[in-house]
Amino acid sequence: MTKRILSGVQPSGKIHIGNYFGAIKQHIEMQDGNECFYMIANLHSLTTVRDKEKLNQLTLDLALDYLAFGLDPKKCTFFMQSEVPQHAECTWILSTICSMGLLERAHAWKDAQEKGKKETTVGLFTYPVLMASDILLYEPDLVPVGKDQKQHIEITRDVAQKFNSTYCETFKLPEPHIPEEVAVVPGTDGQKMSKSYGNTINVFAEEPEIKKAIMGIQTASTPLEEPMETEGCNVLALYKLMATKEEVEALKEKYRTGGFGYGNAKKTLLEKFHEYFGEFREKRIELEKNMDYVYKVLEEGNEKARAQANSVMDRVKAHTGLKIR
Ligand code: AMP
Ligand code: TRP
Repeated sequence: MTKRILSGVQPSGKIHIGNYFGAIKQHIEMQDGNECFYMIANLHSLTTVRDKEKLNQLTLDLALDYLAFGLDPKKCTFFMQSEVPQHAECTWILSTICSMGLLERAHAWKDAQEKGKKETTVGLFTYPVLMASDILLYEPDLVPVGKDQKQHIEITRDVAQKFNSTYCETFKLPEPHIPEEVAVVPGTDGQKMSKSYGNTINVFAEEPEIKKAIMGIQTASTPLEEPMETEGCNVLALYKLMATKEEVEALKEKYRTGGFGYGNAKKTLLEKFHEYFGEFREKRIELEKNMDYVYKVLEEGNEKARAQANSVMDRVKAHTGLKIR
C-alpha cells in the first residue's frame, strides 16, 4: 500500500556514509510506490552554521548529493524547510503546549548541557519542536531516519498527542522507520560515524581524502601472519554495507586464514567504496554543471510542500481558535 513518507537532513556538513546508509539510501528506495517529501532542514542548521556563504554552499551541496544519489523530482517532493513558512509558524503553536520537561529530557540537549557548551541557545532547546512541525505538517505514516533521531520522533508523537487531546484530533501520529542493520553506522574510530567526531568517510570527497580516511580506520594490531578477528572489526563492518554476502564471506575467510593483514583489508574496502559510489560521484559532477536544474527542482518542490503544509496549518488554526471565520 502506498505510504506517505517524510524525512529531512540538515545542511550542516558533508554527507558521509553514515548519512547515506542510515537515511538517504532508504529515502531514495522509498520514492518508488510511496508519496515522499524530503526536506533540506536548513532552519535546523542555523543552530550550528552561522556563516551565510557556508550555509548557501552546504544547501546546494546537499541538493546535489540527493540528486546524484537518484532522488527523482518527478517521484517525490524535494524542498527547503525555510521556504515553507508554516514550519516556523507551527513551531510556535506547538511550543505553547509542549512541556519543558519533555525537551529537557532530549539527548541532544542533555549532551550539549553536559559538554558545558557556551553556545546552548533557545533554538537548540526547541530544536525537537521544529522537527515535530516538520513532520506533522506532512501527515506521514513513516519517517525514515538513523537511530540517533528516534527520540525526536517519540517527542513528535508526544507533542501531537498532547495537541490532539488539548484541542481535537488534528495530527496523525508518525512511526519511525529505522532498519536495524544500518541504524548506527560506525566511523573510522569505531564510534558512531558523525561529523562532530571527525571520524567520517565523506561520499563525495576527493580521492586522496577518501583514501586517507579508509587507510586510517582503527583496527586491532594482530601480527600479519596471524588470523584476524572478524567480530567487531571496523573495516569489515563498513565493507558489509557495500558488498554482497559472498564478498563478505570471502573477505572473512582471508581474515581467518592469516597472512592477509589490515592494510590489504582496507585496500579491499577502498576498492569497494569506489565500485559502490563511483556512479553517484560521476553523476554529481555532471549535475554541478547544470545548477539551474537544481534551483528549478527546489522551487517546484517548495511550492508543492507549501500547499501541503498550508492545508494542515489551516486545520491547526481553526482548531485552536486562531481563525475567526
Ligand atoms: P544529520 O546529518 O545529523 O542531519 O543526519 C542525517 C541523517 O543521517 C539522520 O537520519 C541521521 O539519523 C542519519 N545518520 C547520521 N549519522 C549516522 C550514522 N552514523 N549511522 C546511521 N545513521 C546516521
Ligand atoms: N534532526 C534531523 C537530523 O539531524 C534532521 C531533520 C530535521 C529531520 N527535520 C526532520 C529528520 C524531519 C526527519 C524528519 O538528522
